[in-house]
Amino acid sequence: MSSVSTKQGANRRKAIARKLEKLDKKHVWHPFTQMSDWGNEEQTIIESGSGSVLTDINGNTFIDGVSSLWVNVHGHRKKEIDGAVAAQLKKIAHSTLLGLSNVPAVLLAEKLIQIAPAGLSRVFYSDNGSTAAEIALKMAFQYWQQKGPEYRSKTGFISLKEAYHGDTLGSVSVGGIDLFHEVYKPLLFDTYTIDSPHCYRCALGKSYPDCRMACADQAEEVMGKHCDETAALIMEPLVQGAAGMLMSPPGYLRRMRELCTKYHILMIADEVATGFGRTGTMFACEQEGVTPDIMAVAKGITGGYLPLAATLTTEDLYRGFLGEYRELRTLFHGHTYTGNPLACAAALASIDLFKKDKTIARLQPKIALLSKQLKRFEGLKHVGEVRQKGFMVGVELVRQKETKESYPVEDKIGIRVIKEARNQGLIIRPLGNVIILMPPLSITAAQLKRLANIAYESIKKVTEDS
Ligand SMILES: Cc1ncc(COP(=O)(O)O)c(C=O)c1O
Repeated sequence: MSSVSTKQGANRRKAIARKLEKLDKKHVWHPFTQMSDWGNEEQTIIESGSGSVLTDINGNTFIDGVSSLWVNVHGHRKKEIDGAVAAQLKKIAHSTLLGLSNVPAVLLAEKLIQIAPAGLSRVFYSDNGSTAAEIALKMAFQYWQQKGPEYRSKTGFISLKEAYHGDTLGSVSVGGIDLFHEVYKPLLFDTYTIDSPHCYRCALGKSYPDCRMACADQAEEVMGKHCDETAALIMEPLVQGAAGMLMSPPGYLRRMRELCTKYHILMIADEVATGFGRTGTMFACEQEGVTPDIMAVAKGITGGYLPLAATLTTEDLYRGFLGEYRELRTLFHGHTYTGNPLACAAALASIDLFKKDKTIARLQPKIALLSKQLKRFEGLKHVGEVRQKGFMVGVELVRQKETKESYPVEDKIGIRVIKEARNQGLIIRPLGNVIILMPPLSITAAQLKRLANIAYESIKKVTEDS
């Protein structure tokens, strides 16, 4: 190619990039984004991806440090998933699950049950994590309504402070992050709340392990007091992700399972963020030998390719919905794209890859490498705590280490750190003052080191040089 045509090509590319940037600012309303800031700043528009690397319309490359919002598992443009979606496209892109079935949805249900905690046997599809949680709430509520008149008072839910289960109103009702949820309070139903098992900022002012998990005792008190009015406890197993990667102490999840059984409260495990290898096992519940009554999954289910979610439950709960047509024991819920064949084909390929690529086994040394890399973060002047469970990491930034004083919202400290990281070739997203690192499980050791280095340098530069 002549240098003239190369130059022309580059100019054309630049012109297209400027046009896209303009159009984005003119028409797109971005989620969880203050749009008056967005309009004034330079933005990154992604055009392609490969493995753990994203490329923008200007040809800049970045490590995908949050797995495209916690979904990507085996990398972008993974041959096997690309192939499975392409093959399915040649058959059919979509048909409904209402009154019909489709091949990938059937096969995927079987696969999900094979890998899920033992005892779960039924799969109800939807298309995102919020709806998977919403469906779990409706299932639990309706189950008790149909069980018999003596259970009709079991209409409430127990939720955790700092919880996040999505953005639909039911999911927001059981959420506990004031920053996101406070404004919608008048629209929500009340829940019985229990403290988050968050040791760095313990609500009971205790310290682990001397506390002997006093937060679980407090949870028992609430359960004992309200069990007759409670349909279910909903919780994120092991890690409260959106709250800033808050890790529960060992045994907490198991204890919640035991308490739910003791007080006849259904247990809903929201594995939307933790599922599909994120915590180092296929599901977080496995780590404490827990089978919930209902389990919500989404995000990593398709390997990060397409929107799909599922709410899994037990045979006992499922049977509670069976009866004569006229009894109206049907679960009255369903979305247009429920069980979409393309998404199910991607999910089938992704689950097969776990076996073929030995994803979980190969992840273990990378988890150890990440832990090693994170050690030095603790020495930074404004890092209060580094939290890690598998490939879920939260680095909490504090104004004052000794007092754990938080940065005020207006400092935008997290946003400033991720902007610096982006300048250095890493895409990450903060949750308030917590820097989140959540790369694809397939990231290479070299990329993982680079990710940690950029995150470290960005935190240091923003918090210590300004
Ligand atoms: C635990 C948990 N539940 C539910 C959701 C909502 O999922 P979605 O954004 O797909 O609606 C999220 C999203 O981050 C989550 O972390």
